[in-house]
Amino acid sequence: MKESYGNVVQEAYINWLFEFCKKVYRVLAPHGSFVIDLGGAYQSKRPVRSLYNYRILIKLCDELDFRLAEEFFWYNPSKLPSPIEWVNKRKIRAKDSVNTIWWLSKTDNPKANVSNVLIPYSERMKKLLVNPDKYYKPKERPSGHDIGTAFATNNGGAIPSNLLQIPNTESSSRYIQLCKAANIPAHPARFPQKLPLFFINFLTDPGDIVLDIFAGSNTTGAAAEAVQRRWIAFEQNQSYLAASTFRFIDNNESIDVASKLFNKILASEETISIRRSVQLNLEI
Ligand SMILES: C[S@@+](CC[C@H](N)C(=O)[O-])C[C@H]1O[C@@H](n2cnc3c(N)ncnc32)[C@H](O)[C@@H]1O
Repeated sequence: MKESYGNVVQEAYINWLFEFCKKVYRVLAPHGSFVIDLGGAYQSKRPVRSLYNYRILIKLCDELDFRLAEEFFWYNPSKLPSPIEWVNKRKIRAKDSVNTIWWLSKTDNPKANVSNVLIPYSERMKKLLVNPDKYYKPKERPSGHDIGTAFATNNGGAIPSNLLQIPNTESSSRYIQLCKAANIPAHPARFPQKLPLFFINFLTDPGDIVLDIFAGSNTTGAAAEAVQRRWIAFEQNQSYLAASTFRFIDNNESIDVASKLFNKILASEETISIRRSVQLNLEI
């Protein structure tokens, strides 16, 4: 998350974020997961990295009894070079294009099924599956363990790694189209839908509830909706929240319907969260 939402200094930011995480811990199901995406940052005016994302992780595990189930790294190849001073002008740092994503849980065994997020096999693996004898000669490992031909079994895809390569280049979605048509700025810090989708498929089942406490344009809710999970979105900025409904407007609906819905939510003072059931029942 960027500091543009209040410019809190890093130490204060950790404490601020920690207070929200305490509440997440309280409401999280016993076998549920808490996934938090934290972009890296430099210390102010210094070519020295902030440790805030690691500090918050340690605080969450030490003080709230969260477990680090696994650390993930979101590699966004389309990220622009920044900060310009260190990367472009003085050329003393490389482009930062990886966010840390902490997958946290309350128990050692949160619900998880990697079979739900298999990725396509490599070309070499595809050949091996067709003709294992030609492409694979089982060798005994140094441990003496023989992995045999189990390796050549077709499981429908390969196990993904904890490095998620997902470009953030969405420019033609329904959300963007409707924001443009209604003359409303799109949320400036959206993540690509594939990112929450990966964790939703990996860590939840259809019908489970997915909560995003900093929902922005509600990319998470849209991902959850696409795979039949229930969802709740909290967002403090009423305009972002109102525009997020564009994600759920049918392609056949007119822009006029979208604008009416936007204005209705913008005017409704008590709406600080939306959930699927409420949203779908809105009268326009
Ligand atoms: C990085 S953005 C999230 C963007 C989102 N992932 C998306 O794809 O659209 C973080 C959001 O958190 C919201 N936010 C900050 N403080 C908040 C609070 N106390 N309660 C609810 N939302 C908050 C900001 O307004 C901002 O829209």
